[in-house]
Amino acid sequence: MNAWLTSCARVGITTSSLLRTRFERMRERGLAAAHAYASVAVGVVVGAYLATWWLSRARDDDADDDGVRNAPQNASTSASSRGAEDADVLGAIGNTPLTRVASLSALTGCDIYVKCEFLNPGGSVKDRVALTIVRNALENGSLVRGGVVTEGTAGSTGVSLAMVAKAMGLKCFVAMPDDAALEKSVLVEAYGATVERVRPVSIAHRDHFVNVARRRANDAVAEHGKGYGYFADQFENLANFQAHYDTTGREISIDMRTRKKTLDAFVCACGTGGTLAGVGARLKEENPACQIFLADPQGSGLFNRVTRGVMYDAAEAEGKRLKNPFDTVTEGVGINRVTENFKILLNTPGMISGAVKVSDTEAVAMSRFVARHDGLFIGSSSAVNLVSAVRVAQFLGRGHSVCTIACDSGLRHMTKFWSDEYLSAHNLSVRAELVNDAHTLAFLDRDVTVTPAFSR
Ligand SMILES: Cc1ncc(COP(=O)(O)O)c(C=O)c1O
Repeated sequence: MNAWLTSCARVGITTSSLLRTRFERMRERGLAAAHAYASVAVGVVVGAYLATWWLSRARDDDADDDGVRNAPQNASTSASSRGAEDADVLGAIGNTPLTRVASLSALTGCDIYVKCEFLNPGGSVKDRVALTIVRNALENGSLVRGGVVTEGTAGSTGVSLAMVAKAMGLKCFVAMPDDAALEKSVLVEAYGATVERVRPVSIAHRDHFVNVARRRANDAVAEHGKGYGYFADQFENLANFQAHYDTTGREISIDMRTRKKTLDAFVCACGTGGTLAGVGARLKEENPACQIFLADPQGSGLFNRVTRGVMYDAAEAEGKRLKNPFDTVTEGVGINRVTENFKILLNTPGMISGAVKVSDTEAVAMSRFVARHDGLFIGSSSAVNLVSAVRVAQFLGRGHSVCTIACDSGLRHMTKFWSDEYLSAHNLSVRAELVNDAHTLAFLDRDVTVTPAFSR
């Protein structure tokens, strides 16, 4: 097709220029037949123009296929929907921008990039996961249209699932801990899903939000038959890992290649572990020298699991626990069990290079710092991620490039993480002078650094 169009364009252009020369000669001779030649010349020129236009369109399509030139449009075809669904809201999932954080890059002497997942239509990194989980379940018959998809989640996955369910003709039920920011349950309900806010209890308890969600799916199957209830199970469902491997990781990789840069490290905090495992596996596969680090909020046991081989946090010690599940203002990240998605990181030799601990005070301060100096208005897990990106950059030294994720926007966290009243009640207020100066990261604890991963 392309070769044919190229020939048409060349023939058209050559013929029109020959005719133009001939026409000019005839006009000089004052011949009336010049009018006839003029009409043909105009026709050929228009034809050549149309052929050239077609050719350039065909070239654009080819570039989409090779996934480089128009990488963002093509990169997440497996997270965004194909075919008929491309025109609806699901087609807008993925292909988020990778932004360089100017303030942190200047202060570390490294390039610090953040993948702006808050720009997904459902507002978070979980849109990709929800879409892949639901699409897989529909494809393999575990879920049928008209059925209910259920999930136990601190919020973001619930919002994304509620959105995806509506767009795919499904019902949605979400169980979440009652200490999660209220705006998340309001959002889930806005999509027409049902929310049950439950008391935060141990995963071993039958009323842990994950167990409640699993039970609701089983109840729906018992009542209506196979496929009418499906527990999304983002923690153990490897479609979660797959979504990030196929899309988030691939997009970052293509974006860096387009910029002619090499990524030295990727770091992010884990809730289910899907993002770190999926993106990590993809980036490592494309460039084995890229190092993968875990960021961990206070109270979570993953840091110890990665750096010492055992899952234990001081806050877990008898008599020290202040509230369940653990003491942090951050939401969606940190966990005290090893999920199937996280196991991929632990079971792949050389996958994870180390871990970084981040305190709530540092996360709150970082969110205020990048809002003031970079115009980035981020949520709590994104703030943990940016603190860890700085630590990884400082650990690697100047001249490196580090990437992390902005999982959701600060708008999801107005009643807690972005509420001065809430922060002051929890002794987390930030002193303005610490974050107003763009030339110093004085709000970070200098004694905390990257700890290498435990190896047997
Ligand atoms: C806001 C937010 N950020 C980050 C994460 C962590 O991502 P992952 O579950 O892929 O580890 C979650 C998980 O629920 C989340 O809700």
